[in-house]
Amino acid sequence: MTDNRKKTKQTADTPAALPAALPRLLLEWYDHAARVLPWRKDHDPYHIWVSEIMLQQTGVEFVINYYVRFLEAFPTVKALASADEQEVLKLWEGLGYYTRAKNLKKAAEIIIRVYGGYFPETYKDILKLPGIGPYTAGAIASICFEQPVPAVDGNVERVISRIAGLYTAEKNILKKQVTVMLSDIYPDKRRGDLTQSLMELGALVCVPNGAAKCGNCPVSEHCMALKTDAVSLLPVRQNKPVKKRIKITVFLLVCGENLAIRHRNKGGLLSGLWELPNVEGHLTENTALETAAYWGTRPSAVGGFIRRKHVFTHIIWDILCYTVQCAEQPPGFTWTDRRSLADLYPIPTAFRKLL
Ligand code: ADE
Repeated sequence: MTDNRKKTKQTADTPAALPAALPRLLLEWYDHAARVLPWRKDHDPYHIWVSEIMLQQTGVEFVINYYVRFLEAFPTVKALASADEQEVLKLWEGLGYYTRAKNLKKAAEIIIRVYGGYFPETYKDILKLPGIGPYTAGAIASICFEQPVPAVDGNVERVISRIAGLYTAEKNILKKQVTVMLSDIYPDKRRGDLTQSLMELGALVCVPNGAAKCGNCPVSEHCMALKTDAVSLLPVRQNKPVKKRIKITVFLLVCGENLAIRHRNKGGLLSGLWELPNVEGHLTENTALETAAYWGTRPSAVGGFIRRKHVFTHIIWDILCYTVQCAEQPPGFTWTDRRSLADLYPIPTAFRKLL
């Protein structure tokens, strides 16, 4: 039988077909090479969902402890839905991208209210939940409900663009192409394992930055990039937008055993978390003392300063941090000792690292 798909001229809309042997080779490899990870113990959609949200923009090793502690605290969707948001954020502290945690809780409430506590089972319904995009919906639908939908993240794009020799430069078009190509080869069985095998190959073998281990690759015979000596050229690099640099001055206001913190509740970056008092721009030592006095802290001296950089997705904070000894604890702030600060308040890493 001839394979007509191979005759199709490759364009953005009609990408080349993937080798038919790919699912079998990937699944055979996955059976012996897959890492043992806590979220691979079962296919419970709540477990897979939490893990996939945590794994967005965060490495596997870093996520493992967070995942285990999160499920201990909130073992079910119901427990998460009825939790206090501050408690959820506290368990997320250090993972970053806190909107993920807030959306997780919002979606849990919807699952209880709209779906009677049962996780929706179709790709379309899963996609409607807050914080769930095509990647996460594909992962849950295929891993938990054996649906033939791929989960295409940067790792999977790298794997497929190399195998098929895709030089597509535009990120959204590449994602579409890879999604279409993979959807065509989803097998009748073990669809969730195929999804995970692609992620695993991207994480362990078909890695970026000239470190690909093509000698260990189960599909190297079918890899166009390897055949044409183009592994390090694919996927085509994107021009990353330059991050905006913002100067801020942060205050460690110390009064006896206590430090001043405040709740970020204005919406936007890090909203819902707690912060050290801060202002935009870099203040001199004198202006910092004046600012602390204006806040009503009766400052006596600046005890020193440190300079740190904190990188977010779109911006970089250039932080100048003054320690200021104070005689008053005005009510505009919450005053807390370091113990309670560690135990009770979710503080983003940008501030936590100044403590
Ligand atoms: N990265 C994203 N999802 C993953 C998963 N399920 N296992 C390992 N790494 C991942």
